[in-house]
Amino acid sequence: MRVLVTGGCGFIGSCFIRMLLDEDSEASVLNLDLLTYAGNPANLADVEASPRYEFVQGDIRDLELVSRLVADVDQVVNFAAESHVDRSTSERAGQFVDTNVYGVYVMLEATRRHRPKARFLQVGTDEVYGSVDWPGFPDEQTLLRPSSPYSAAKAAADHLALAFHETHDLDTIVSRCTNNYGPYQYPEKVVPLFLINAIEDEPVPLYDGGTQVRDWLRVEDHCRALLLLLRSGEAGQIYNIGANQDPEVPNLELTRMILDVLGKPESLIQPVEGLRPGHDQRYAVDTSRIRALGWQPELDLRGGMEKTAGWYRERRDWWEPIRSGAYREYYEKHYGAALKS
Ligand code: NAD
Ligand code: DAU
Repeated sequence: MRVLVTGGCGFIGSCFIRMLLDEDSEASVLNLDLLTYAGNPANLADVEASPRYEFVQGDIRDLELVSRLVADVDQVVNFAAESHVDRSTSERAGQFVDTNVYGVYVMLEATRRHRPKARFLQVGTDEVYGSVDWPGFPDEQTLLRPSSPYSAAKAAADHLALAFHETHDLDTIVSRCTNNYGPYQYPEKVVPLFLINAIEDEPVPLYDGGTQVRDWLRVEDHCRALLLLLRSGEAGQIYNIGANQDPEVPNLELTRMILDVLGKPESLIQPVEGLRPGHDQRYAVDTSRIRALGWQPELDLRGGMEKTAGWYRERRDWWEPIRSGAYREYYEKHYGAALKS
């Protein structure tokens, strides 16, 4: 089985590649990644010498390149995306449309032309349902109401993937997963940002009172679900993936957990307002369809956070180079004024 993985140098893609190579000795992976600010070859340092792993630096929007790469694979898993909501609400929104919509079209078109029997898994997000009123749990038929340019572009990509199934009989599947946490996550996202800031005794900028709810899932559980979908998912279907944490965990509670796990004081919490326009209040999904295939997540968020915190404590060699580069500039621009006020 030869699998083209895009965005494999990112947070989830790298976990997925590691798991696939580990669990299936017959599998080989071709990883296409542009290496944007979020892509980091160090995320896959442990597999780069494997004869079953090959890396190509390139763009999913490059039809010629993708056509060549897709020609001899059995499956395509598209992780490549601009993935950070805060960046999508800035002047960078066009980049989100380019990569997350046009890029997905190119991937689908190249697959249709050159490998029409390949299974195509489009990795999507629960954010396409928008903010979900409690106690709702949208299923895969629920109307999409994305709030940010990021989630609107991801919703368009879902529709494109499903349209290629309807019109060209392409073997496409769409997944929609909730928030992931774990090792190798770029520190613009809340869990690694707060872990690293707290390790450094720096303030953790909690948005808008911290009442918002996300459904935290271990990245390994997400990747196991995706492997299952490649094997057993039904063509043309959508699958929600989520932990269904019960009770639900508001951001303030998550923040307190992070600080407690690290033995840091709550005085590090710095409330900030207005940094996320259109901030969605609650995400939640009905996961019965993927659970019916036999998947279930690890629910112990505290245990998962302890493990994750341990990883960030030990892997300064991974995050220090990130924090000293362009990230610092982004951080100053995004948080600077709010953290000083
Ligand atoms: P990430 O930002 O860590 O990684 C994205 C990767 O895509 C990077 O390696 C980057 O270099 C690459 N990339 C970006 N543009 C590219 C292009 N034009 N061509 C080739 N490569 C390109 O993202 P992530 O958190 O690992 O998310 C991966 C996917 O999963 C995304 O599609 C995201 O929407 C989806 N998702 C993420 C979460 C989450 O909690 N992080 C949850 C559900 C779904
Ligand atoms: O739900 C799935 C989505 O989860 C994925 O599709 C996205 O790619 C991924 O980035 C993530 O989106 P979120 O916007 O939920 O994740 P983020 O870590 O940016 O924010 C999580 C919550 O934490 C959100 O309510 C905003 C809040 N937050 C975030 C940051 C960066 C803060 O309070 N402070 C912060 O500094």
